[in-house]
This record gives sequence, structure tokens and C-alpha cells, in this order.
Amino acid sequence: MQRLIIQGGNKLSGEVCVQGAKNSALPLLAGCVLADGETKLHNCPALSDVFAACRILSCIGCKCEYDKGSITVNSAGADKSFVPDELMREMRSSIVFLGAVLGRTGECRLSFPGGCELGPRPIDMHISALRQMGVKISEEYGVLDCSCAKGLKGAKINLSFPSVGATENIMLAAVLAEGDTVIYNAAREPEISDLAGFLNACGAKVSGAGTGTVFISGVDKLHGCEYSVMPDRIVTATLMGAAAATGGELSLLGARVGDVRAVIPVFEQAGCQVYPYEDRIFISAKKTLRAVKTIRTMPYPGFPTDAQAIVMAVLTKARGTSVIVENIFENRYRHVDELVRMGADIKAEGKVAVIEGVKNLYGASVRATDLRGGAALAVAALSAEGETSLTNIRLIDRGYENIEDTFSRLGGKIKRVNY
Ligand code: UD1
Repeated sequence: MQRLIIQGGNKLSGEVCVQGAKNSALPLLAGCVLADGETKLHNCPALSDVFAACRILSCIGCKCEYDKGSITVNSAGADKSFVPDELMREMRSSIVFLGAVLGRTGECRLSFPGGCELGPRPIDMHISALRQMGVKISEEYGVLDCSCAKGLKGAKINLSFPSVGATENIMLAAVLAEGDTVIYNAAREPEISDLAGFLNACGAKVSGAGTGTVFISGVDKLHGCEYSVMPDRIVTATLMGAAAATGGELSLLGARVGDVRAVIPVFEQAGCQVYPYEDRIFISAKKTLRAVKTIRTMPYPGFPTDAQAIVMAVLTKARGTSVIVENIFENRYRHVDELVRMGADIKAEGKVAVIEGVKNLYGASVRATDLRGGAALAVAALSAEGETSLTNIRLIDRGYENIEDTFSRLGGKIKRVNY
């Protein structure tokens, strides 16, 4: 077991390269199952979730090698269709392998992903869409048994909510299906466009990604390719948060302004200056932070739920009252109690959290409650007076490559210790 010891009070400053996006790397790795031969993904972050995805690939019969940020997947032996329970439990988002394995083998058996740190994580939209594509699905004792003996068929699918995972699963199932698939009310997140870019580089016919309607024309075969994973927009938001909370100045190399368009105005309202360039974003936080207008988390292009906890950590010290409304997940305020331990004044009820800015946060013993909530506590600790001990950091490692290295290279006092 490990924890982070963080001594607050140092401004973060300097240049940092933004890592590749976890939420894009995972569906891309699932997509490798569909491509014949060898596929090479560059800019893959070294994260426990990415390595869990590699273990799923191996279990399906792929050969998978990680070397300095690049993963080579050879799918020649990918003829297995069973993902064991322990791998499904390790990473809830492993459900994205369902569409890919079905596309490759015509069957798939995996355990139901169940709940997670963010509350219930239903997959009803994934299941209903795959049924429309001709998949027979039964569920017994938490295990999903899926098969499509006659092959996957293109379908017109209307999502009741623009679910990211369901859109990805349908795209993965549809690329090798017979005929055309149209996804209405598709998720528009940048990771969907990245998946489409990757699948097209493998020979698929996907158009409309990034809009509410995605068209997929099934093809007979996909071939391997080389592709670079997009930069992580939530890590970008986290680094912006760390600059804002500590009164620092950071140049975020590789960050794409289009991916964080909903986040930038929040930092600007709080008093930061943000300069977007073609190949980087520069943020400077020289002034005292002030409260912002109500933030409502929404599907892209709205404010991302994954940046909610991080921005909340920043607003704990902003003069005035800020309000956040969490619309995507039911249980995404578990970091609030931990921030309160550090001296924050936050009341959360249902979807709404009210943050009264305080003068100072103080170092305390806190526990990461989920991936982004954990990163938010690290950001808060960097700006607090005194020392924070942050436990349960395996959750942070799911999404941040050596968070202590990143922050300490920028001037933060943070180290990882064994218990
Ligand atoms: C993805 C991201 C996650 C992000 C989320 C929303 C990955 C690996 N994870 O998660 O970081 O927070 O998008 O931007 O990319 N829902 C249903 N039924 C379904 C599917 C979803 O009710 O079949 C609900 C969920 O419970 C949730 C909402 O829809 O309340 C959004 O979920 P979804 O967009 O599917 O998120 P994920 O793909 O799980």
C-alpha cells in the first residue's frame, strides 16, 4: 500500500507534456481486437487501467507489448471470447470490449460490470443496442452471455442519452457488421472522434463522429495501423486546476484547446488568464481567485463531469459562493467530505454542491474516493497550509501517470511512500 505525502504552499510553474488520454486508449485497445495482424498505438499512458486492458487482450488471445508509451497488439490468435470476472472487476470500463469481441468472434461471455465508486453503472443502452444488431444476450448470476451466430447486422439505433461507452461499443460492433449502422443521439466527446479516426485508419467506414449522428458502413476486414492516442483533456483540466489553486503559471504542451472549451471560461471567471496556442495552453493564476457562475456538468460539449471534483478543489479558496450541479453521475460528491476535512466549506445535497470560499485549506489525512476525486484532493493539498497524507492512491494511478513526478517537476512538494 502506498500514499502521497504533500507539503502545500508552493506555486506550480513551468512546462509539462500532457499524457495520452486513458479514456481514448481503452476503446482503441479494444478496437485492436478487430484489426487483422499488428496494430501499434503510440502515446499510450502507463496506467493501471491501460495495463488491465492489455491483460484482457492477452486473455482473448492477442499478443500485447508495451514499450516506452507504445503498445503493439497482434490479434492473430484472438479467438477467445471469455473475460474472467477478476479482470472485469479491475476496470468497470472493460465493458467496451463487448462490442469488439462480438465483432471478432461472434460471441462474448463476461461478468456484468455492476456498480463502481460513482454509484450504479447500468449498461442497459449497450445491451439494447447490441440486441438490435442481432445479438442474443442472456444474463445469469451476473454473467452476460452474448452470441450472434448469424453475424452482427447493421441497425438504426436511437440512444435515450448520449452515453460515451454505449456509443463506443456500438461503433466497435458495427465496423465489421453486415450493412449500415446509424447511431442517433450519439455521444460527441473527443474520444469518440479519436476512436473513429483509429477505426478509419484500420480501413473502417465511420463518419459523423463528434456530431450527434454517427454512420458506420460495415466492411469485411480491418487491417492493423499505427495511431497516436489523443492528449488527455481531463489531465489538462487537472493541471490547469493545480496552477489555479497554487497561484502558479503552467504551459501545457500538447493540450488541445478545442477539447477543454467548456473548462477554460470557468478558470477565466475565477481570475486566471488562459492563452490557447496551437500546440499548448498557457495558464497564469496571479490574482486572488473569485467564485464562478453555476457550473452544470453535461455531456460534451458541456462541462465534463470528470473535471467537476478538480474545479471544486480550486473553488474552495475562491472568494464568494460557487454552485455546482452534477447531472451525469448519481454519486459523484464523495470527495466533498475529504475536502471539508481540509477546511473547505462545502454543502452537497443530491445533485447540487454549494462552495463557500475559505481563506485557507489545511493539510490533513484524507483518502481518495475515486479517480478524479483523488486527483482533486492532491490539487487541494498542493494549495493547503501544512502536510497532507493522501491514501487509497491506487485509484489515482488508474488515470494519472506518476502524478507525484509530474507535480514535483513543476515545483510541488509531493512524494510517494510505502505505508
Ligand atoms: C465515460 C468515461 C467517464 C466519464 C463518462 C461521462 C471512459 C472509460 N469513461 O464513462 O470517465 O465520466 O464517460 O463523460 O471513457 N448510463 C445508463 N445506461 C447505459 C450507459 C450509461 O444509464 O447503458 C448512464 C450512466 O449511469 C451515467 C450516464 O449514463 O449516469 C453517462 O454514462 P456514460 O456516458 O455511458 O459514461 P461511461 O461511458 O461509463
